[in-house]
Amino acid sequence: MDAVCWLLGLLLHSLPCWGQAVPHTGDHGAFQPQSALTDMEFTSVSSYRGPGNNDSRGNKELPIILWWSAGLFPHFPGDTERIDCHYSSCLVTSNRKVQLYKRTSAIIFYGTDFRAYEAPLPRLPHQTWALFHEESPMNNYVLSHGPGIRLFNYTATFRRESDYPLTLQWLPSLQYLLQPTAVSLQEKNRWRRAGLAPVLYMQSHCDVPSDRDRYVQELMKYIEIDSYGKCLTNKPLPERLEDTSTATGEDGEFMSFVARYKFHLALENGLCSDYMTEKLWRPMHQGCVPIYRGSPSVADWLPNSHSAIVIDDFPSPRKLAEFIMALDSDDAEYSRYLEFKTPSKITNLRLLEGLESREWGVNDMSKPNYLNGFECYVCDQENKRLASERTHRHNPHLHPPPSPKMANNSHMGCPLPSPGYGEVEEVHPNDSWLQMWPQDYWQSLDQAEGLDSLIRLNESDPGLLWHHIQKIAMRRAKGH
Ligand SMILES: *[C@@H]1O[C@H](CO)[C@@H](O)[C@H](O)[C@H]1NC(C)=O
Ligand SMILES: *[C@@H]1O[C@H](CO)[C@@H](O)[C@H](O)[C@H]1NC(C)=O
Ligand SMILES: *[C@@H]1O[C@H](CO)[C@@H](O)[C@H](O)[C@H]1NC(C)=O
Ligand SMILES: *[C@@H]1O[C@H](CO)[C@@H](O)[C@H](O)[C@H]1NC(C)=O
Ligand SMILES: *[C@@H]1O[C@H](CO)[C@@H](O)[C@H](O)[C@H]1NC(C)=O
Repeated sequence: MDAVCWLLGLLLHSLPCWGQAVPHTGDHGAFQPQSALTDMEFTSVSSYRGPGNNDSRGNKELPIILWWSAGLFPHFPGDTERIDCHYSSCLVTSNRKVQLYKRTSAIIFYGTDFRAYEAPLPRLPHQTWALFHEESPMNNYVLSHGPGIRLFNYTATFRRESDYPLTLQWLPSLQYLLQPTAVSLQEKNRWRRAGLAPVLYMQSHCDVPSDRDRYVQELMKYIEIDSYGKCLTNKPLPERLEDTSTATGEDGEFMSFVARYKFHLALENGLCSDYMTEKLWRPMHQGCVPIYRGSPSVADWLPNSHSAIVIDDFPSPRKLAEFIMALDSDDAEYSRYLEFKTPSKITNLRLLEGLESREWGVNDMSKPNYLNGFECYVCDQENKRLASERTHRHNPHLHPPPSPKMANNSHMGCPLPSPGYGEVEEVHPNDSWLQMWPQDYWQSLDQAEGLDSLIRLNESDPGLLWHHIQKIAMRRAKGH
């Protein structure tokens, strides 16, 4: 029950947004849940004491970790819990009363909720900040700027360079790729002759940083695309599938409807290294070939060298369309793209090892979820740091202090949004994408720099953010 309430809270959290007419809405809806988290079934994993944990301290002696984003606090009921991790133990709480306690050694933030104007200030030098951000970068561009991400000492993001990487969070298991078997090619060809387009597009959120619709619109000039959903719609969904609660990933009827298509357009809402979502994995699960744009390094994670068509490998939408049409009429070559449904054809070791070695599970009760996993990562790191600080204090000559640790752009670092097709100079000044995303990106840099300035000046009122942003802007205008 509590878990359900919590998940509801997560689904409903609003995303206040500064300085722009159009609020962020997150990229969720019928065809795109906003995060793997919302699909996860949670139990409160209060304790999975690792074999290396011989921490015998009582609760009153443990360091405290504060979840600043209380909505994500992964324990029920109550607001405080002892956690016994791989090597050590901590108290975790969502009660902000402990913010300025000496014992509070780390604060965990949820990226989507992180607001510079609500940051816990003053930032105490003994406290580390930890960032959990599994969602789209579009939800908070502050974190894609150096001054924003460097505020954090530990991260769990989709980037493989993150301290606690969530790169394959949208891929529940290897089985998910292998099962079910694809609709047979004969049947797919039958559907083609009956009038189905070779390519499916289904999107519920149109105005996104990656500006995907501009590309798809151009592609539509050269190849037939059936577009359901809310963006570039040219076909109605069968009535029984119009109910948005059915038209999600795992509904059987919905599945068999989309699985008839040979190709699915799969364009992420943001184009960041290692940001891959169900957009990529779900068509593969359904036995269709994704036509993908998203992470520029997606090839690093694909089952083999011929399991997706990567848009950026083609010089133009026209060339891409020609390639798809050739595959559409070449059964043998098309079938090669679905070979990954056979276990022996999944040859990418990085993918196999990534799935094998991650300690968290997706809908897997035998493993911790990644929220509990990350808080334990932070707990063990903090206890290690506190221990080396103690040894240093006792004998500064023999033991150097632990070296500081902080994140950098390799933990997030999504680039300035650019048009999905063509050059930014060619986009009409009235264009809604142009008015929204590049501006949001640069305003987020202002916020990151403003917060950095608040922290350096040891301010205790985050409301002074606007004042600091103005001062920075004035200095910049004067050419400093
Ligand atoms: C138990 O913890 C102490 C430090 O508190 C450490 O020195 C020792 O190696 C640990 N023992 C094991 C078996 O991990
Ligand atoms: C944590 O990050 C902050 C800001 O980036 C830095 O000043 C501080 O030294 C870091 N703390 C530790 C313990 O590494
Ligand atoms: C950025 O962080 C990564 C991973 O934490 C680290 O390996 C790298 O050295 C850092 N880069 C810089 C320039 O500090
Ligand atoms: C652009 O926007 C302005 C003001 O909203 C409007 O007057 C003008 O007609 C628009 N131009 C186009 C081409 O849509
Ligand atoms: C920062 O501010 C806090 C309270 O506002 C104060 O206790 C602390 O001494 C200040 N730190 C520095 C380095 O000035």
